[in-house]
Formats: sequence, C-alpha cells, structure tokens
Amino acid sequence: MWLFWFLLTIVLIKLFNKVTSGKCYDEKVMSGEVVVVTGASGGIGYETALEIAQRGAKVIIACRDAAKGQRAVNEITKRTKNTKVRYMHLDLTSLASVRNFVEELKSSEAKLDVLVNNAGAICTKREYTADGLLKDMQINYFGPFLLTVLLVPLLKKSAPSRILVVASAWHKFGTAEDINDKRYCYIQSYANSKFCNVVFSKELARRLAHTGVVVNSLNPGQVNTSLYKSSSFLERLRSLLLYFFFKTPNEGAQTSLYVAVSDYCDQVTGKYFEDCAEASPSARTEDIVLAKKLWQLTEGLVKLTPEETSL
Ligand SMILES: NC(=O)c1ccc[n+]([C@@H]2O[C@H](COP(=O)([O-])OP(=O)(O)OC[C@H]3O[C@@H](n4cnc5c(N)ncnc54)[C@H](OP(=O)(O)O)[C@@H]3O)[C@@H](O)[C@H]2O)c1
Repeated sequence: MWLFWFLLTIVLIKLFNKVTSGKCYDEKVMSGEVVVVTGASGGIGYETALEIAQRGAKVIIACRDAAKGQRAVNEITKRTKNTKVRYMHLDLTSLASVRNFVEELKSSEAKLDVLVNNAGAICTKREYTADGLLKDMQINYFGPFLLTVLLVPLLKKSAPSRILVVASAWHKFGTAEDINDKRYCYIQSYANSKFCNVVFSKELARRLAHTGVVVNSLNPGQVNTSLYKSSSFLERLRSLLLYFFFKTPNEGAQTSLYVAVSDYCDQVTGKYFEDCAEASPSARTEDIVLAKKLWQLTEGLVKLTPEETSL
C-alpha cells in the first residue's frame, strides 16, 4: 500500500511542477537574426539554441568542447532543418579565449541580435585559472562579464538587441565580498557567482539605458542537467530523484526563451525573470553603490583596457 501512495505522491509532484513551470508561447519568427548561446553543447543551453533555431535564427553554439559543440550543431540542424547553426570555440576559463571568440565573431558576423550568457558550472574544489581567477567565478561571472562588455559595440550597432544572463535562485545566498579570494565553499562560491550575475545585469542595463540594448537576468528553476554531475553513488541517487522533482532541460529553457524572444521583453531592461514572468531578486542586488564597486573591481580582474572600459 505504501508503494501506491509513494508513487502517487511522485506523480502528483511531477504534475504540479509541469503545471506551475512557465512556458514560452511566443512563436516569433527570427529569420535574419543572429543569436549566440554560450554553453549550448548540453542542458538548458542546448534546448535554448534548439528552440531559437526552430524559429529560423542563425545560432552560434559557443562552447569549449569542439566535439560536443559540433554534435549539438548536427543534432539541431537535423531536428530543425535550419542550416544556419554553427559552432564556435569559447572557453570561459580563459580570458584569451573570450577575446579570440569576440574577434572571430566580429569578423564573421555583421550583427548580433541576442547574446545568451548561459554557460555555467559548479566546481567542487578551490582552483585558480591561468588568469589568476577562481575557476567557477571565471566560468560563471568574470568570463561572461568580459564577453558581454566586448560585444556591447556590436550589440549597440544591431539594436534593438538583447542580453540575457542565466543566474539562479542561489544568488539569494551570494555576496560580492572577497569573490576571488575567500575561504572556499563551493556552494557559497556558486551562489556568489550568481549574485554577481544579477548585480552585473542590472548595472549593465543602467549603463545601456536608451541604447536599444536590453539586459535581463533569469532563474531557469531547478533543472535536471549535468550541472549536478558527479560519480558517487549518492550523486547518482540524487540524479534519479532530480528526474522526478526537477524540470526537464526543455522546461528549464523556457524562461531563457521567453526573455530572448517575447515581445514583452522588447522594452524591459534590468529585470529578473522566473517561470516566464518578472520576479523579485534579492533586495541586495538593487544596491547601486555595490554594483559600481563590483563593476570596477571586475574590470581590473578581467584586464579591460581603458578604451574598453568606456561603458
Ligand atoms: N540546472 C539547474 O538546476 C540550474 C539552476 C539554476 C541555474 N542554472 C544555470 O543554468 C545554466 C546552464 O546550466 P545547465 O543546468 O544547463 O548545466 P549543464 O548541462 O552542465 O550545461 C552547462 C554548459 O556550460 C558549459 N561550460 C562549462 N564550463 C565551460 C567553460 N569553461 N567554457 C564554456 N562553456 C562551459 C558546458 O560545457 P561542457 O559540456 O563542455 O561542460 C555546458 O554546455 C548555468 O549558468 C547554471 O548555473 C542551472
């Protein structure tokens, strides 16, 4: 009998999650638009790229693993019949790779309509990159900061255009204090990177006001992806539970899609979204003094030149 109630509870939870998780119903045709999705080799990024390719846009799959990236291109092309999907190398753990990506993109594309900063990772040990930055902070925040700032001139030229920053509900536990040099706790570091994502997107929105470039951050919800990958038995058990309680990657991509394509988000900037609707992030993300301090610190850490810091 207990098995019946257990299974019924799981089915009801799954049903509840399905009904309450947002869906993007906007069928906007995007042919002629150029969209970059970082970390589109799998998970939420892959589903976001797939949905955007289905709408006819040229989609650039920006990720670090050429084989995975090319596999995503092939699959998306096959599923959507859109032949304008291509892979470009981007490793966010390297500031040089970010700069190379930007140069290559600028020389091959005359415009950029949507930049989806989706790539992200959880790193379970304290590790620094060759740039001297905490690895998870660089993948989730410093790298996307540099990428976005360097692409702003192209996005401005292509206005109206959109910048998305995929954050997380974990930002509510994050801080911008000692972000590159703290006693390491990987959950805290992940939360810090997501807090910085939200603060950064709001500050960038203020700096780009009236340029036709809108900037928004979002929380995809709890999604069953390889973000939680690990080899231990408990982690495998957890991924089994994730199947029942978490969103599928396609469900997780709906808010990114909504912010990237919906008419509603055409004019909205500096906001935070969840389940395809505006939501309230932590009140601390509204602190303008903190945002300016964080921006200045980050500019130094990612080594922007004086000409590039004019934003
Ligand atoms: N899943 C959730 O429950 C959840 C909840 C809230 C927020 N998010 C956010 O959603 C975003 C997407 O995550 P996901 O759940 O889809 O995870 P995922 O399946 O692990 O996908 C992450 C993507 O980022 C890429 N990536 C990792 N390190 C990179 C690097 N150094 N340079 C370039 N790309 C890199 C990965 O490439 P590889 O395949 O090569 O590793 C992969 O394509 C992340 O920003 C995450 O923080 C996820």
